[in-house]
Parts: sequence; C-alpha cells; structure tokens
Amino acid sequence: MTNRPQVLRTVTALRRAMAPYRKAGQSKSGFGIALVPTMGALHAGHLKLVAEAKKRARRVVVSIFVNPTQFAPTEDFGSYPRTFETDMKALTALKVDAVWAPTAAEMYPEGFATRVAPEGAALAGLEDKFRPHFFGGVATVVTKLFTQVSPDFAMFGQKDYQQLRVVTQMAKDLDLPLKVIGIPTVREKDGLALSSRNVYLSDAERAVAPTLHRVLKASAQRIKRGEPIEMVMEEGASDIRHAGFALDYLEARHALSLKPIASVKDGPIRLLVAAKIGKTRLIDNLGV
Ligand code: PAF
Repeated sequence: MTNRPQVLRTVTALRRAMAPYRKAGQSKSGFGIALVPTMGALHAGHLKLVAEAKKRARRVVVSIFVNPTQFAPTEDFGSYPRTFETDMKALTALKVDAVWAPTAAEMYPEGFATRVAPEGAALAGLEDKFRPHFFGGVATVVTKLFTQVSPDFAMFGQKDYQQLRVVTQMAKDLDLPLKVIGIPTVREKDGLALSSRNVYLSDAERAVAPTLHRVLKASAQRIKRGEPIEMVMEEGASDIRHAGFALDYLEARHALSLKPIASVKDGPIRLLVAAKIGKTRLIDNLGV
C-alpha cells in the first residue's frame, strides 16, 4: 500500500516533522532534505522537480501555498487553479514524505510586517516591469519556506527563469545554507512549456501558444549563427504579434545577470519572452 505524504498545516507541526528527517538525512545513507516549492495545480513539470529532488535527498518535502503577496489585485489569485486532492494523489504515487500546506493566516499572521526586497536580476526590466510586486512577494515567501523547512536543496523550474536567478542570488546573499537547483522546462510535444495557467487557454489559443517556443528556438539558432541580436529579436517580436499575441517582451539577456547583452562574445545568452494570448499571460525562455 502506498503511504500518503503527511500534510503539515502549522509551523510547529512542520518543525516537529522535520527533526527526524534531519537526523535521517545526516546518517550515512542519507543526503538530507529537498524542498520543492509550488503553488499546487501540479503538472508534469512539478513532478519532474520532485523526481530530481528524490535523486538528491533522502527526504522530499513539497510546499503547496498559493502566495497572495506575489499577485497584484488585478491578477488571478482568486481564480488560480487549486487542485489539492489531485496533487496529493500525484505526490503519494511519487512517495513524497511531506506536504507543507499552510493557510495564509499561518504564513502571514496578524501583524506580519517584514518584506524581502531583491534587487539585481529582480530589477532587470523583464517580469518586474509588468508585475512590479511579484519578486518582493516571491522572495519573502521563499525566504520563509527556506527558514521553515531548512532544506539542503531547493528545486525550481527554469521555466520561471528570472525567478530562478532571483532566488539563487537571494539564498547566496542571505547566507542561507542550501543549494538552489534549476531544472529544465518540461514541454508538450509541440514545444509549449507546461504551466498551471495553460488550463486557461481556449482551443484556438492553445493552438497558437507554441509560437513562443518556436520563435525562441529559431532566434537562438540565428544568434548562434552570428546574426545581429537586435534584428533577430525584432523579427521574433513581429512573428509573435502576427500569431495574435500581445507581446510584453522578447529579450536577449546575459544568462546570469539578466543584463542586456549585445553579442555572444559578452557571455552566455538567455532569450526570455512574455506575451498574452486572450486573457492568459505566458512566459518562456531558452539558452542560446
Ligand atoms: O514558482 C512558483 O510556483 C512560486 O512563485 C513559488 C516559488 C512557489 C513561490 O510562491
């Protein structure tokens, strides 16, 4: 019989549950604790993070918390998909040890007054330009998740590439004793990056959604061949708009600092895109 992961709802219960995990993790046969932070509505991309976590750590904790502080009042916090029982079935099948699922009142109790304000990659003019509140909310909740669970590893998808850079730098800057690990994006057969928000797409929108990956792939090949970055980005932007998207950005950036980059000679390049199809905002990225 498969055991359901234990579900922890309070910081006290979480700490109590983590103590034996930590001891087991320090034994010769163990490699500590890995945390997979999520907002639930789990898809194959999340399950890949869990599978990678299991390769590295003896105990795997998945957090499920739809974090209100990273949504603007105009965004989809209320309608964000919440599928706890289905998520639990998937995590049970993967033999996850524990699910950390606090309420908003447990995470942000009455009187909560502290915020982590990341700079650097968090102010790169990409997601932050369109969602100015986003990285403050993410950095605050991720810092809390890290201090609550005290994992040795934390797994993040490369799909949210700017978030991965921000969290990696934050863990370093705050001397948090864990390794942040970025895991490649899982895609549908036609290239569309898996995302909990893909459920919002109508059939017609779903049909054009893979344009983003197609343009990223073609642009990366052209830049590798030596074509001028600015021209490649302009033509890529035009293809995305012609497909029916409202484009927020298509940018070539330094893969680590996320600063603008003019040539392949100036360092590794990451192409990043965000665009709206109908009411759904999609993001994606690709290394050159
Ligand atoms: O990527 C997400 O799902 C969220 O931003 C995270 C990291 C779980 C923080 O709420």
